Amino acid sequence: VILTSGTSESFAHLLRLLVDPGGSVLVPSPGYPLFEPIATAEGVRAVSYRLEPGPQWRIDLDSVERGLGAGARVVVVVHPNPPAGSALTPEDWEALEAMCSARGASLIVDEVFSDYAWDPAEPRFASRAGTRPVPTFVLNGLSKVCGLPQLKLGWIVVAGPEQDARRATSGLEWLADLFLSVGTPVQQALPRILRECDRFQSRMRSRLHANLASLDTRIAREPRIARLPAEGGWSCTIRLPGSRDDERWALDLLDRDVAIHPGHFYDLDAGACVVPSLIVPPAVFVAALDRIAGLVAEDPPITKTH
Ligand SMILES: Cc1ncc(COP(=O)(O)O)c(C=O)c1O
Repeated sequence: VILTSGTSESFAHLLRLLVDPGGSVLVPSPGYPLFEPIATAEGVRAVSYRLEPGPQWRIDLDSVERGLGAGARVVVVVHPNPPAGSALTPEDWEALEAMCSARGASLIVDEVFSDYAWDPAEPRFASRAGTRPVPTFVLNGLSKVCGLPQLKLGWIVVAGPEQDARRATSGLEWLADLFLSVGTPVQQALPRILRECDRFQSRMRSRLHANLASLDTRIAREPRIARLPAEGGWSCTIRLPGSRDDERWALDLLDRDVAIHPGHFYDLDAGACVVPSLIVPPAVFVAALDRIAGLVAEDPPITKTH
C-alpha cells in the first residue's frame, strides 16, 4: 500500500509510472471530469471508452478494445462511477482483465464511492484489492471513506502478478519519496480515524437514501422528470424536459439558488440531464426539488403537431 495526498495524486503518480509521455489512458465516459486535465498535466492523453445507458449502465467493451488496440496501456474503472453510479458485472471484469492481459495493460480501479452502494446487499462493489491476473491499482482515500477531504490522505493498493506488483511498488515508493506529500500527523492518526469511519458512513448512507426517496416521490408526481438508473455514489442523474439543454437548465436553476451540475460536465449526452449532489441535508434537497419542479412546471409541455 502506498500513501498519497489523495486520489488525484494517486492517479497522477500512476500515470507517471505506467504511461510514457504522449501515451494514452482509457477513462470512462460519462465519468469524473478531473481525469482528463490530470492526464493532460502529466503529458498523457485521456481517451474515452463508453458506458452505455440502459436499465443499467454497461461498459462498452468494444470501445475499450479499440483504445487498447490504439496503444493505451492503462484502463481506469471508477466503481461506482459518478454520475452513472454503475457497477461492472463479474463477466465484464473477466472480459476486461482478459483484454488487459492480452495487451500487457494495467487497471486503475477508483473505489472512492465503493462504500456507498445504494443497496447494502449489492456484492458487486466489493474491493478489487486481492489476487488479480493483471497489474491492478486500487485507489481510495479519506475524502470519501470518512468524509475528510481536508486531511489529504489517499492510498494505492497494488495487486496483480507478484513480479509486476513488486516492480510497480518500488516505482511508486520512489515517486512518493520525490514529493513526500503525506503529512506525518495524518499518517499517525490514520488507524484511529479509520476505526471511527463507520459512524460517518452510516449517517451518509441514511442521507443518501432519504434524498433518493424524496427525489423518487417527487418524480412520481412529475412525469417530465426522470431519474437515470444508478446503483451507488454521492450523486445521481436526472433528465429534465428537452425544451432547454443541460447548461440552460443549470443556469436557470442557479438563478433560483439551486446549484446543480449540467450533464456535460461528466460527458453525459443522454438528453437534458443534470446531476444533483445527494449529500446535502434532506431539507435543503427537498427545497431544491420544489424549485426544480416549479421551473419544469413553467415549461409548456411539448405537444405533437400532425
Ligand atoms: C471518482 C473520483 N475520484 C477521485 C476523486 C478525488 O478524490 P481525492 O479527494 O481523494 O483526491 C474524486 C473527488 O470527488 C472522485 O469523485
